[in-house]
Amino acid sequence: MKIDIIAGARPNFMKIAPIIEAIENKQFKGIEIEFRLVHTGQHYDKKMSGNFFEQLGIPEPDVNLQVGSGTQAEQTANIMVRYEKLLINEMSDICLVVGDVTSTMACAIVAKKTGLIVVHVEGGIRSFDLTMPEEINRMVTDSITDYFFTTSKSANNNLEKLGIKKEQIFYVGNTMIDTLFKQMKNFTKPRVYRELKLEQKKYLVMTMHRPANVDEIDKLREFLITIEENVNNRKVIFPVHPRTDKILIEMDIDFKSIIPISPLSYLEFNYLVNNSMAVITDSGGITEEATVMGIPCMTLRDNTERPETITEGTNELIGTDPVKLIPALETLFTGKWKRGTIPYLWDGKTSERIVEQLLEIK
Ligand code: UD1
Repeated sequence: MKIDIIAGARPNFMKIAPIIEAIENKQFKGIEIEFRLVHTGQHYDKKMSGNFFEQLGIPEPDVNLQVGSGTQAEQTANIMVRYEKLLINEMSDICLVVGDVTSTMACAIVAKKTGLIVVHVEGGIRSFDLTMPEEINRMVTDSITDYFFTTSKSANNNLEKLGIKKEQIFYVGNTMIDTLFKQMKNFTKPRVYRELKLEQKKYLVMTMHRPANVDEIDKLREFLITIEENVNNRKVIFPVHPRTDKILIEMDIDFKSIIPISPLSYLEFNYLVNNSMAVITDSGGITEEATVMGIPCMTLRDNTERPETITEGTNELIGTDPVKLIPALETLFTGKWKRGTIPYLWDGKTSERIVEQLLEIK
């Protein structure tokens, strides 16, 4: 059996690393299972891609489709054309996609039309917000997926409501958390920690890259000013996504508390989060990691496809009105932030369960 493993953008890399390791462990035991790692090239910078491969021990991709930057349609189209060519030259049996990025949807469509079995790791999650490109990617991918590996009960419920048969759904947990547990001992203090003389639990971390938050300069400015004025002079370390960087450059703000820095590697970023007082973010994956590390997390979105990070974890939805951050920060600084627990099956063994199940697919 040959499996194409698709990776394209930063949040994919930590999700595929443990799956590849689990496959290699089976190969080592003489079990017949082959994979081909296909990098679409959606993210291509060393800081957005290469560093993750090195740190997480992901092998060099067998194929790089090198699509690079573009609009959503350009990226989708280019990935589809190039992946189809690859399959025409050399077929595979299964196409395994993870998450919800453009590469996930584009490769799933091509694979299904070419007759491969489509497997979606992190299938079924929904924000029900169709202004997010990721939600469209999730819906399209799930509509043609044959087997779903899910992270949560809510994902299972969403799929069952769509009429997906129980036999197609495998509730296995979260591969991103497999990577987190494995790499915790390797977390690395970033240079900025020493340079700014940061102290444990006395600073915050923030990330922002969603088009809804950063594409309008005024909106982003309002968020940054609100944060700057309400963190009581604590430092807020802000690794800036390339999309956000383009806008930040145009903005003329003299930050004192907020410290914009280049994107960090996986091990450095999670060191920073693990030692922080709290995280302010609009990412989905970071809310899961913060939940597992027990770090208070404020999500600058009106909805989430990961409700368990709120009902069980340390995350709260703040919304997209910057003023709402003020009472949340107050709760944090008065020591009243809720404590959380780790969701069911987020135990570091998800990838092993996935590979056991893949071996059953005929
Ligand atoms: C993508 C994913 C999103 C994920 C995010 C994490 C989709 C629809 N969105 O959004 O779910 O949370 O990645 O990073 O797939 N750029 C670089 N260097 C790179 C990659 C991108 O400079 O290595 C630039 C691009 O030129 C573009 C911008 O960053 O201007 C955004 O990149 P893009 O791939 O369009 O999507 P993301 O916003 O990163």
